[in-house]
Amino acid sequence: MNLGCGNGPQAVFKYRPTTDDLIPEANKAVTKTLTDDFGTPEALVAWERFPINYGGVKGTVASTEGPSGSITVALEGDSSKISKNASLLWVSGSQAGGKSAETNVKGFNVETKTLQLASGSSTPSVGDRFVVGFGEDMQLGRVVYMKNCMHCHGVTGDGNGPTGKFLNPRPRDYRNGKFKFTSTQSQEKATRDDLHRIIQYGIPGTYMPSFLLLGERETTAVVEYVRWLAIRGEFEKRFVEELTNDYSQTAIKDSTDKAEKSYLEKKKNKEEAEKPLNLSKAIKAAGTAFKKYVDDKELDGAVEETANLLASAWTQAETPEVLIIPTSQRVEDTLESRERGRLLYMSNTTKCYTCHGPTGRGDGAATEDFWDKPGTSVKYPNRGLHDEWGNPLKPRNLTSGQYRGGRRPLDLFRRIRAGIKGTPMPAFGDTVLKEPQVWDIVNYVMSLPYQPKQPTAVKHPAEVVANNEEKPAN
Ligand code: HEC
Ligand code: HEC
Repeated sequence: MNLGCGNGPQAVFKYRPTTDDLIPEANKAVTKTLTDDFGTPEALVAWERFPINYGGVKGTVASTEGPSGSITVALEGDSSKISKNASLLWVSGSQAGGKSAETNVKGFNVETKTLQLASGSSTPSVGDRFVVGFGEDMQLGRVVYMKNCMHCHGVTGDGNGPTGKFLNPRPRDYRNGKFKFTSTQSQEKATRDDLHRIIQYGIPGTYMPSFLLLGERETTAVVEYVRWLAIRGEFEKRFVEELTNDYSQTAIKDSTDKAEKSYLEKKKNKEEAEKPLNLSKAIKAAGTAFKKYVDDKELDGAVEETANLLASAWTQAETPEVLIIPTSQRVEDTLESRERGRLLYMSNTTKCYTCHGPTGRGDGAATEDFWDKPGTSVKYPNRGLHDEWGNPLKPRNLTSGQYRGGRRPLDLFRRIRAGIKGTPMPAFGDTVLKEPQVWDIVNYVMSLPYQPKQPTAVKHPAEVVANNEEKPAN
């Protein structure tokens, strides 16, 4: 369903470098799928299998007995959202599908629930279902996003808007489908409420501003738009990952280089060997193989599978089972509890100190090491931690008392349970730490901003842990 043109700045969705690296046939197939199923920033397409509220009021025809062109309806949403000239889309019944599926509302009487259809519309039957103003919320979300978010987060949601390039931390790139500060378990997506909260209150200590002054309707709409960008982005990422091994130019070049090397080696040893394809022939052959991949419906299969996976992950995030909700009350914040928390913080069960440092200043030994890029044995050129997007990242200075994901004890409880998604801050699930232990750590962490100023030279944590009686120098 095409949502038509908005009137904003001319803008295009950018593709990932991995998409650009595909052989022409595969690249064309991927970009066509994305354009057909998600549209362009100017003309969005609503792919209805995803759990996105594109907007509109759903209803059913209750009676067709009034004057011609008018029907009595039962509505499932807020009837005040129905405006004159709103579009009406038939989703079931004889009108649905095809050209006659879309018409306009000429008038609506709230009291009698009578909808007047544009002249020339054919009369539906009782029980037919429709949506009035389909896509209105997405259109609004898009306008809000372009006006308030795009310059940091980018048109595509890649965190690469014109202002974004200069910020640290960088604006979130939504296209991994991951958000850092959520109320859900470590492998789960963010909830609508999580995104709503972040947008309303911002992220303290970063350039992510608070949008408390946006209206509720605008905020809700931009939440859907961000979810939609995240789904579009992750769809591209996963879909292309399916094709990379066989159809990326880099992979084909690597394998022809390897084949050529082994051919030369064999020839040198006077072994029998067949001359391998050169690069341009190998790319041509991959093009032929890709045609077969399409003919065998494997491409359609990859689209299906990717869409299913994302639809169910985002649906699951809205179910209560995935929320982290403590079953016990916060352990009373006593000196004893803080001390138990401190010992856990210094323990090898949690290793909090290795990142956050023995005094909590965010200067642990891990910030001095060189780390591998995820999934490779290649090291980052600079010392210290990085997030999944490749940005350098410091462990939080816990003595500052500034928390990006919320400062209620419950927020910190969730940070420890779920970790910070897409970052090295690990999740400590309930097999590692029992609930009262998490609360002890929360009590300790929340006491850190109020500790007397601590010297930087402290004993090695191992020594501290070895002797429970001994406290770190302070
Ligand atoms: C001035 C730049 C800027 C603007 C404008 C901006 N953001 Fe952000 N946003 C950021 C930065 C920086 C971060 C990352 C902070 C971090 O990593 O802790 C971020 C993070 C986010 C996150 C991720 C939260 C998480 O848990 O991972 C969301 C969602 C978000 N912004 C939505 C929006 C929306 C929606 C708008 C517009 C209404 C917007 N932002 C406008 C800079 C900006
Ligand atoms: C491997 C390194 C590492 C370990 C281990 C680690 N953290 Fe973190 N922690 C981080 C990083 C990095 C961040 C900042 C992430 C970001 O904001 O992008 C962070 C952030 C935090 C925050 C800030 C949350 C907020 O909302 O701003 C708290 C609190 C925290 N960690 C507590 C802990 C505790 C308690 C432990 C041990 C139970 C721990 N961390 C273990 C790396 C680590």
